[in-house]
Amino acid sequence: MATTSDAFVYTGPDTLAGRYLRSFWQPIYRSQDLERGRVVAVRIMSEDFTLYRGEGGAAHLIASRCAHRGTRLSTGWVEGDCLRCLYHGWKYDASGQCVEQPGEDGGFAAKVRLASYPTEEYLGLIFACLGEGGAPPLRRYPDFERPFVFEVGTPEIWPCNYFNRMENDPAHVPFVHRESLSRVGKGDQMAPRTVTAEETEYGVRATMRSAGQPARYVHYIMPNMTQTRSQTRVEGSVADAQRLWADRLFWHVPIDDHSNATFIVDLTHLSGMEADAYRKRRRSVEPARVETLNAFGAAVLAGRRALREMPADMSTYKQFWIEDYTSLVGQGSIPDREHERLGRIDAHIILLRSVWLRELKALAAGEPLKEWRIVPGMADMNA
Ligand code: FES
Ligand SMILES: [Fe+2]
Repeated sequence: MATTSDAFVYTGPDTLAGRYLRSFWQPIYRSQDLERGRVVAVRIMSEDFTLYRGEGGAAHLIASRCAHRGTRLSTGWVEGDCLRCLYHGWKYDASGQCVEQPGEDGGFAAKVRLASYPTEEYLGLIFACLGEGGAPPLRRYPDFERPFVFEVGTPEIWPCNYFNRMENDPAHVPFVHRESLSRVGKGDQMAPRTVTAEETEYGVRATMRSAGQPARYVHYIMPNMTQTRSQTRVEGSVADAQRLWADRLFWHVPIDDHSNATFIVDLTHLSGMEADAYRKRRRSVEPARVETLNAFGAAVLAGRRALREMPADMSTYKQFWIEDYTSLVGQGSIPDREHERLGRIDAHIILLRSVWLRELKALAAGEPLKEWRIVPGMADMNA
């Protein structure tokens, strides 16, 4: 399989990037959205699956279609830790083994088995490993296990390739977010004077330097994650956005080549009574709704709305959503990378692509891949 210069974009089951991403655990659903006894259809990297939570509380991921005549198992019923097909009632256990077939002779069910995939829950997300050849241990993020205010955001399901999101850069903030920043009195932010990039144990680190300010860092964690410390993108009141900051992890998971789900967790460094008060304020905020926020971004792209028309009482978190949607979906679902004109502020993009292509070439050649590792203190590099 040859590697093209944009091979990281395409993640279907027969692609190199698809094989690579499938060898890592990926978040596929927010834990709180899947109650016991619920079954849903999920699409990941151009493949369909059935996700359900058994009555015992464990999440299970199996193939999309029933082995009998192929209807979607997401329309069936959860029974204990098993799933029964809507059409003729075949029943499967969590390993995908068929255990019951109404009207059939005993012995047939034992010969029928669907694909199933390991799942684990961590940081409020359901993770699955879709690769062949066994799952590695689930990677941990100790910075996010600290006892501050931990939240799992509404997954951002956007009509663009996951790599648009992966390549979002540190230099965009004063421009893309000019409207929301100005509303909290931070509209005078300067673009960084320099952006440098280096390869690390976990991926690529971008370092931004501006006159008279401490350096700031964005971590691009291989293969498809970003870690930031956000000083404004805070859910809550204007006062919260002016005063608080959060460490944030993003997983950019392809749904298919033209859409992705970004899963976000954030940790706001508050404790004691301040933490309790902030949790209460956050609970009183209307949750981010994908349809509403995406529709606003789409209307801006269509020329029917402008960012300055975002509602005055909308939280900075949601305004950032719309602003980032506008710039990243605005690049096209798969940007034309052949004709782009990269400059000095794109140092980390150039490096990230070359690291990705190096790994894909090694994968294609059957050579050893770099083992990425989370290191302590990544969050606290940012002052
Ligand atoms: S299609 Fe599922 S039982 Fe017939
Ligand atoms: Fe942004």
